[in-house]
Amino acid sequence: MPAVTEDQVREALASVNDPEIKRPITELGMVEAVTIADTTVTVRLLLTVAGCPLKDTLNRDITAAVATVAPDHEVVVDMGVMSDDQRKGMQQMLRGNRTEREIPFAQPGSLTKVFAIASGKGGVGKSSVTVNLALAMAERGLKVGIVDADIYGHSIPDMLGVGDLRPTQVEDMIMPVPVPNATGTDVQVISIGMLKPRRDQVVAWRGPMLDRALLQMLSDVYWGDLDVLLLDLPPGTGDMAISLGQHLPNAEVLVVTTPQPAAAMVAERAGTMASMMHQRVVGIVENMSYLTTPSGDRMEIFGSGGAAKVAETLSGRFGYDVPVLGQIPLDEKLREGGDTGEPIVVTDPDSEAAKVLRGVADRLGGRSRGLAGMQLGLSPAGK
Ligand SMILES: Nc1ncnc2c1ncn2[C@@H]1O[C@H](COP(=O)(O)OP(=O)(O)OP(=O)(O)O)[C@@H](O)[C@H]1O
Ligand SMILES: [Mg+2]
Repeated sequence: MPAVTEDQVREALASVNDPEIKRPITELGMVEAVTIADTTVTVRLLLTVAGCPLKDTLNRDITAAVATVAPDHEVVVDMGVMSDDQRKGMQQMLRGNRTEREIPFAQPGSLTKVFAIASGKGGVGKSSVTVNLALAMAERGLKVGIVDADIYGHSIPDMLGVGDLRPTQVEDMIMPVPVPNATGTDVQVISIGMLKPRRDQVVAWRGPMLDRALLQMLSDVYWGDLDVLLLDLPPGTGDMAISLGQHLPNAEVLVVTTPQPAAAMVAERAGTMASMMHQRVVGIVENMSYLTTPSGDRMEIFGSGGAAKVAETLSGRFGYDVPVLGQIPLDEKLREGGDTGEPIVVTDPDSEAAKVLRGVADRLGGRSRGLAGMQLGLSPAGK
């Protein structure tokens, strides 16, 4: 049997990522020892937490990696758990030199594009738009994270089929919940609902608590290197929008509205609020724009022109172009996808709604983050 060295095994193990932290297990200090006996390679692996739900994945990946350098050996993965000190060491390594409670996305050198999905009125489709944009961007190979900041109506985890999952915590660092998809690039999700002790608990948090929760989701969660971060906001111009403006002034805001004049008017207020917080409004998405009847006619159930009106008003008010990025039709499958946790861009990619959503994702995900998205410290023009 050809000899294999410990170095070779360790090198092979460097190709195995921890499924949650997405860094090589060797780098994370998870490989405590490698022992090579005649016919057996034993890898002593330290899990970050006992009962780690992804044990099987690790076992499989490690066995496969070692087999590439020691195909004739039996591979044994001996699992233990990190000590408190080891966990602290890993956390330190992950944080790099960042001080505690710093928001990585707010740092000047951050390459992550941040988009907050806002609306005036509730129920216009913010969360549906958020999950579909995230998956459409992931399909293009982008690394996407979602923060569900809707305190009273957090719905993102259910819409992605991960409503029962909870994030893993390593010391005071929280690992977002990965949402696997066909492209192999997981979308990472954290929801205010996941920070509650019980799923059915009703939270009656006010300003300061909301602020703390947002800060926690942005700074205590280990996001790794993201290309795009999407934040699903609660409807309206309340505390969360203000907190967001304070912590992430470089976020760009995507306003969702229906064509209805009443929805459009409050959508304008949400856009204006963002601008008051020095955030740029990147565009408007009109949802529930029309229904295509079986005979092919378009029925404008909620009227027409809402997004165009918001775009015109905000462009005039801010002095830069606020475009309508897409008009999404009413589609029963979009609603069903939200209920079953399978967004329409995945289940029915050829539907008109999915095409529009992909178009919006491409425009947002493809934009390079030049000065356009940067906070210039200027006051908004006009009223
Ligand atoms: N284009 C559409 N066609 C059909 N159903 C839709 C469409 N957009 C949204 N829905 C449905 O409308 C409901 C409200 O949508 P969603 O939860 O995305 O809105 P929201 O703005 O996030 O609401 P909230 O203000 O409560 O957070 C959901 O049941 C969703 O599935
Ligand atoms: Mg919502």
